[in-house]
Order: sequence, then structure tokens, then C-alpha cells
Amino acid sequence: MSNEFSGKTAIISGAAGGIGLAVAEALAGQGMNIVMGDIDSSTLSEASDALKEKGYNVITCPLDVTDYTQWESIVEKAKEAFGKVHMVVNNAGVGGTPGKIEDAEHETWRWVMDVNVMGVLYGAQATVPAIKEHGEGGWVLNVASMAGMMGMPYAGAYCASKAAVVSMTESWMAELHPHNIHVSVLCPAFVKTRIHESHRNRQEKYAVAKEKRMSKDKLMAGAQAAAAAVESGIPVSMLAERVVEALRSKQTYIYSHPNYRKVTSGRAKAIDMAFVDAEESEVVGHLINDDIVTF
Ligand SMILES: NC(=O)c1ccc[n+]([C@@H]2O[C@H](COP(=O)([O-])OP(=O)(O)OC[C@H]3O[C@@H](n4cnc5c(N)ncnc54)[C@H](O)[C@@H]3O)[C@@H](O)[C@H]2O)c1
Repeated sequence: MSNEFSGKTAIISGAAGGIGLAVAEALAGQGMNIVMGDIDSSTLSEASDALKEKGYNVITCPLDVTDYTQWESIVEKAKEAFGKVHMVVNNAGVGGTPGKIEDAEHETWRWVMDVNVMGVLYGAQATVPAIKEHGEGGWVLNVASMAGMMGMPYAGAYCASKAAVVSMTESWMAELHPHNIHVSVLCPAFVKTRIHESHRNRQEKYAVAKEKRMSKDKLMAGAQAAAAAVESGIPVSMLAERVVEALRSKQTYIYSHPNYRKVTSGRAKAIDMAFVDAEESEVVGHLINDDIVTF
């Protein structure tokens, strides 16, 4: 049966496993052509074979999201295979290394920022012109996290990167609305994947010099806590089903864990109440009736 997705084409980053693969399968099940990109080529080819066996229209392309030229190649390949591009799912992401501020490895922060933030920018920059060009509209789905809606001790790099993805999404929503491109951000809490083993795909360019590395004991403690949290997560198939449901009804902030509302509402309240302090300020309180300036 035909629907708003069928016959259209989605490019998905980080599609070899975890959330990316589950979303690929769910969207393929809606009749979409799927272009799967991932830095892990052998796992990617196994994953795409499994989808092809189910009769889905799937192709793959090597993709390190931190390399813009690889994004250009995947868009080219998608157009060659399917004619048009309608959707990008900026899913590829890495967890980084939990740790204290004093122990932060600069190369690890750069890795997390490059994959989780620049990777999302590059994904949008390469695909949005292709989506605009046919005039049929489409979707940009950025995968952030609940971590983008709240700070977490010892996870500054990951939280900062995901907050950036939320913010980028909010900026692009208004920019792409006139082009009938629906922009949304997925903010899951824990989902059972291999995110806690993100280092398996860390590129050489982000290697930390031996003498600057965090001690093994500290690394182990962080890794065990992360593994336990991820293990408690929901199954990827449930999240993927939720994504289809939310895209269908054009939701913009897509949550998968309604139990986390208390976190975001507590934060939103604290942010709002801080304006009361500014209104009562002897220094800036008089600005309350000024016009709001935007551009
Ligand atoms: N699992 C969770 O609990 C959870 C919660 C919230 C958000 N997320 C987000 O979901 C997204 C998917 O993560 P996941 O949980 O499925 O993890 P995962 O590690 O199971 O899968 C991530 C995929 O991305 C690929 N990848 C890693 N670096 C890449 C790069 N530079 N270029 C291209 N591909 C790359 C990996 O090879 C892997 O296939 C991430 O953005 C993550 O931050 C995960």
C-alpha cells in the first residue's frame, strides 16, 4: 500500500548496526529506497545483505561522516541508483570517554565533536541541495539524545555535542520549512546498541598520545557504567517503529522515553525562572519592555 514514504529515497549514516540499521529496516518496510553509509564497511555489507534478503531496495556506500567528500560521494551514488534523494538520517554518532574535566583528552573531544556535530552539518550540507532540487520536499532527521536536553556529570563532550545537534535542528526547522523539508530531532534515552563500544571505529587521526591517555582504571570504571546503562535500554526495533510513527505525524522533537519528561521540564522551569532574576535586576530589569531583536 502506498504511503508518504514509498518510492522515496533515504540516506542513513551509521547504518551498519544499532539504531541506524533498525531505522533503515523500518523505513525500507515503508517502501523507501535506502542508501546505507557507515565507516565499518564489512559490518555494513553484512547488514545490507540481510535487508536485501528481505526484498528491500538497499545500496551501501562507505561513509566516514567526518569527511565531506565521502558525503558528496554517497549523494552521487544515491542519485545514480534511485534518481532523487528525499531524506537524510544523520544517525552516526560516538559516545566518547566518560571522565572528569581534569582528565579530558583533547583528541577525544575533537573526535566526538567531529563525528556528532560536524558529521551532522556535513550530512545536511551535502543532502539538502539534492532534496531541494526536485521540489517534492522531504525530511532531515538528526539523531541527538536525551543527553542533548540535559547535562550529565563526566559526559561533557557527548552532552555538548548532542545539545549542538538539538540547536542545529531548531535553526534548520525554520530555514527549511519553506522548502517543505521537515526537520526533526530524535532524542532517545538508553537504547540497546554498541554505543558504549564506540572506540571500535575511532579513526587514527583522533588517537591520543600514550602519555596523555586516561588511566586504564578510570577508563574501565566509565566503560562499565556506560555498558550497564546501555544494556538497560529499549530495543532498537521499538525505537525505529517510534521514528516512523513520529515522522508520519510530523513531530519535530521525537522522544522515545516519556518517563524522562521530568528531566526536561525541570530544566525548562529553571531556565524560565532565571528570567525572573533578570527582571528583578537593578542593572538590566528596565529592559523588560524592549523589542526582541532577531535576524
Ligand atoms: N544507544 C543509545 O542509548 C543512544 C541514546 C541516544 C542517542 N543515541 C545516538 O544514536 C546514534 C546511533 O548510535 P547507536 O546507539 O546505534 O550506536 P552503535 O555504536 O551501535 O552504532 C553506531 C554506528 O555508527 C557508525 N559510525 C561510527 N563512527 C562513524 C563515522 N565516523 N562515520 C560513519 N559511521 C560511523 C558505527 O560503525 C555504527 O555502525 C548515535 O548518534 C548515538 O549518539 C544512542
